[in-house]
Amino acid sequence: MPAVVVIGGQWGDEGKGRIVDLIAQGASVVARYSAGNNAGHTVINDMGEFKLNVVPAGIFYADKTCIIGNGVAIDPAILLNEIETLSTRGVSVANLFISDRCHVIMPWHPLIDLADEKMRGDAAIGTTGRGVGPCFADKVARIGIRVGDLVDAEAFRARLSFVLPYKNQVLEKLYGLPQLDFDEVFDSYAALGAKLAPFVRDTAQIVHDALDRDETVLLEGAQGCLLDLDAGTYEYVTSSVPSSSAGGAGIGIGIGPTVIEQVVGIYKAYMTRVGNGPMPSELLDETGIMLRKEGPRPEIGTTTGRPRRTGWFDAVASRYSAMVNGVTSGVLTRLDVLDNFPAISICTAYETEDGRTLTSMPASSVQLSKVRPVYEEVPGWLAPTSRCRSWDDLPPKARDYIRRIEALLQTPIDIVSVGPERDQAIIIHNVLKVKPRK
Ligand code: GDP
Ligand code: IMO
Ligand code: MG
Repeated sequence: MPAVVVIGGQWGDEGKGRIVDLIAQGASVVARYSAGNNAGHTVINDMGEFKLNVVPAGIFYADKTCIIGNGVAIDPAILLNEIETLSTRGVSVANLFISDRCHVIMPWHPLIDLADEKMRGDAAIGTTGRGVGPCFADKVARIGIRVGDLVDAEAFRARLSFVLPYKNQVLEKLYGLPQLDFDEVFDSYAALGAKLAPFVRDTAQIVHDALDRDETVLLEGAQGCLLDLDAGTYEYVTSSVPSSSAGGAGIGIGIGPTVIEQVVGIYKAYMTRVGNGPMPSELLDETGIMLRKEGPRPEIGTTTGRPRRTGWFDAVASRYSAMVNGVTSGVLTRLDVLDNFPAISICTAYETEDGRTLTSMPASSVQLSKVRPVYEEVPGWLAPTSRCRSWDDLPPKARDYIRRIEALLQTPIDIVSVGPERDQAIIIHNVLKVKPRK
């Protein structure tokens, strides 16, 4: 059986956690491959409502193996807290494993994250402040500390003896911050490492063993393509290495690209964004506020509690993300949020300052911040959809809207989500079943 990647097709918070919780029923391994606790995934099922930051959303099935792959950055205290909260609430973590190759978010990373944002002033990215970007920067600069080091006191001491004096120079001389004490950092992080140790494995081997047994492996993305370091609206992006796009999935787990047969792209029925950076279809009026407030779960960031910026569905940006990720299956979430809008717009092109019409995504954030969205207006359905469970249950105008999005994305929509709970979905096609390539 294949490996199937799940990615966010917009600026994050598309409902990846909610959809992975739904489709994981058909997989035997669910593996997170990138990012860190900047991600926040809300899952509501028969066990309750959960906010996951790092643990894969397959954790609610006791018979699934959940992997935190080598591409994930780990803040040990936060992950241990997440594990403890899950356990306390009756969720088994017996089959949760963490790669020994994961990089560790160390105490200087959040300090540098916040200091960098301050130094950027008006050009601040609006990061989550969790130290994820600086951790990945250290990974690339070859001065990171990995989980395999953390759980081995001798290796950790040796590594920290080199890295901390270096980082203390950076903290003091570049940022004017106090130095960190070696013994305090060593003692507290060695203790956290000891608590993480029982979960640590060579996770790539676990995934390969499952693939050899012909089992389905779900590769869970975090964030969204438009926040991706390469594909996204640079420099207003996140810093995950490997990329949060589908191309990063193999690297972040330790499998080759030939194993990946399917890419599921999650899209909201409109757009949201947290943090700064261009968003051509953003609505700063009453309609934008209505998009934020409608439905059972308003648009408030899961991790930082910031209100999400809102706007109409941007077909230019979304088609681009479907293209660069090789999306084979589309999922449309939060359709129910549009139930009370008499008219709905879709951004089908951008108009530049000098009057040119763009239907593909410009690379420059400066250019993107200046384009004017070109809209197509469609009638709303003005009827509740949250109880719909089949295609035929949907109001005809809602079906037309989905068909239009599908045509603009050039990708079939295989699942429509009409509420945050596990069963509030219309499954048109089993996304784990391999389709012929386009
Ligand atoms: P993720 O980061 O992609 O996993 O998404 P988040 O969990 O951060 O944000 C998605 C939000 O939408 C959460 O509050 C979910 O509970 C909620 N949600 C997911 N699907 C639906 C849906 O179809 N309708 C509504 N109303 N809420 C949804
Ligand atoms: P999920 O997985 C939405 C955004 C931040 C900021 C930028 C860089 O829940 O979809 P960072 O802290 O990563 O350096 O911040 O990226 N961002 C997200 N926005 N959902 C996320 O994750 C995000 N992860 C990072 O708001 O604009
Ligand atoms: Mg989220």
